[in-house]
Amino acid sequence: MGKLIVANWKLNPLTVLEAQHLAEAISEVSPHRVVLCPPTPFLTVVKYSLLGAQDVFWKAKGPFTGQVSPAMLQNLGVKYAIIGHSERRSLGETSQEVREKAAAALEYNITPIVCVGHGTTVEQDELEVVDVLRQQLDDSLVGLPAEKIVVAYEPVWAIGSGKAATPDHAEKIGIFVQTKYQIKTVLYGGSVNDTNSASFLAQPHVGGLLVGTASLRPDEFNRIIA
Ligand code: PGA
Repeated sequence: MGKLIVANWKLNPLTVLEAQHLAEAISEVSPHRVVLCPPTPFLTVVKYSLLGAQDVFWKAKGPFTGQVSPAMLQNLGVKYAIIGHSERRSLGETSQEVREKAAAALEYNITPIVCVGHGTTVEQDELEVVDVLRQQLDDSLVGLPAEKIVVAYEPVWAIGSGKAATPDHAEKIGIFVQTKYQIKTVLYGGSVNDTNSASFLAQPHVGGLLVGTASLRPDEFNRIIA
């Protein structure tokens, strides 16, 4: 059965033309469900069958300068939204805000991809990961329908570092999040590339991948989704 593979372009590329070329170079044929998440200004110009946003606000309209409305995303045909990425949490986003955003996304039929993760070193992560995840998940998911939410587990030390967690570790976290929170799809993210992706996807409780750096290299990303 296919898994969910999400491309998080972050704040890349810089021009419309580059964004269009990047999306055009990514195969629409995959045994998996593939979602591209370009920066917000490119959501209307990138053509791909499934698109996601990198953030969403908890209100649909009103006096909220600079925010991204879930109603507007829905109107654009956006089906997913990454919420609470560690790069946003490090700028001050709280789990309570993540919860509000996920609730708003659901109201507009957008599947929230709620990101959690912890640890700036491997050692710290091994010791504390479950405690911290429990706190983040308790606060981010309270009152939300678990069956409609995707969780992405991304250890902070693994993001953009070239050092991924082991597939075994991702599997353990997948089992924990599925059993404790009844989440059906738990993604792994953090330095996924075309060499390690297959071993993550082979884990029964890893429901897919959240891919940053490698999603900007179309040949490599095509090998990951193949
Ligand atoms: P990375 O980023 O693949 O570059 O580690 C993943 C992410 O932050 O979503």
